[in-house]
Amino acid sequence: MKKVSIWLVCCGYLFITACNSSNQNKTMNSDTLTAVGLPDKKAYQETLAGKTVDLFTLKNKNNVQVAITNYGGAIVSALVPDKNGELTDVILGYKDLKGYQDGKSYFGALIGRYGNRIGKAKFSIDGKEYKLDANDGPNSLHGGKSGFNTKVFDAKQIDDQTLELTYNSPDGEGGYPGNVHAKVVYTLGDDNGLKIDYTATTDKTTVLNLTNHAYFNLSGEGSETINDHLLQINADAITAVDSTLIPTGVMQPVAGTAFDFRKPTTIGDRVDAAEEQIKMGGGYDHNFVLTKADGMRAAAVVTSPKTGIVLEVLTVEPGIQFYGGNFLNGQDHNGKGGKAYAKRSGFCLETQHFPDSPNKPAFPTTLVKAGEQYHTTTIYKFSVSK
Ligand code: BGC
Repeated sequence: MKKVSIWLVCCGYLFITACNSSNQNKTMNSDTLTAVGLPDKKAYQETLAGKTVDLFTLKNKNNVQVAITNYGGAIVSALVPDKNGELTDVILGYKDLKGYQDGKSYFGALIGRYGNRIGKAKFSIDGKEYKLDANDGPNSLHGGKSGFNTKVFDAKQIDDQTLELTYNSPDGEGGYPGNVHAKVVYTLGDDNGLKIDYTATTDKTTVLNLTNHAYFNLSGEGSETINDHLLQINADAITAVDSTLIPTGVMQPVAGTAFDFRKPTTIGDRVDAAEEQIKMGGGYDHNFVLTKADGMRAAAVVTSPKTGIVLEVLTVEPGIQFYGGNFLNGQDHNGKGGKAYAKRSGFCLETQHFPDSPNKPAFPTTLVKAGEQYHTTTIYKFSVSK
């Protein structure tokens, strides 16, 4: 009798444990599917205009994994360890290629020919005026309506940690002069840094400002907000903007304003401050003038207090666009984890030359002459706070 009841107790215990663990799995799968894996490769495989679109995976020795599609060269996922060693997907993205084709928010994409805005969608080189696509009120944003984010790049996976993407942008594309040959190499280092190296050549003098438009949420994509993240930006000034987000030409010191991130500060603390520049951007949507340096240097550091995940941005660029996801509106229901991306549920740190530089002679130049080589590098490096 005693043996039978011990046996029954054991069976009951095993049954309850099994139920609990299967519920746990269910929670992980339905709630945070992408927190434990990459999206289905097949959902990105298609032939578009004779070119093959696919999803490529980079993986390093720490099991960090980054998925990139050659449609727009977009970073689709980045699985990085949190403070408990659990892999977390910190990139906002779509679960299939269609999401990227229909999307209006440039998720993860390569941006060309010109990151951010050019005022009145025009500029001149040597007295000749070039008219661009006006796709943001009177201005041109991110290369116009068919920027690099909409192009199928030729892809070559060099090894487990390196993907090379190339694109030939014909003379006149989006209104820009010159046949531009652009090459972007993504390399995932064993230091958990994702390096993005951009080179380009042109056969006519043109302007170029290439960047990447990844949206991050270091608490995991699909988490409600980024306003609890701590942000530090090594910048003493922003390029102040008008109501159409075109720089006025004024370098506004950050001291004493909502833009002072010289020490780590919670993003949400001042995001709705009663300041003119915050009103212009509907929150943070500004180019920060990075502290000058020769070569690569730390530009920004962001930390999620929930996961402890830290993102460090290093670049050779003079500026960084801190965009706090003000225009996300919950309509992007096609997110990888099945969750809508609401206002301020992702942030971008787009390394760049300043917006509207082609019309602002006092800004660092974005001109690239025929035969010259354009080159820029940015690293998004992940770690955990101790
Ligand atoms: C711009 C925002 C824009 C966003 C998505 C950012 O780089 O600064 O104003 O809404 O990209 O298009």
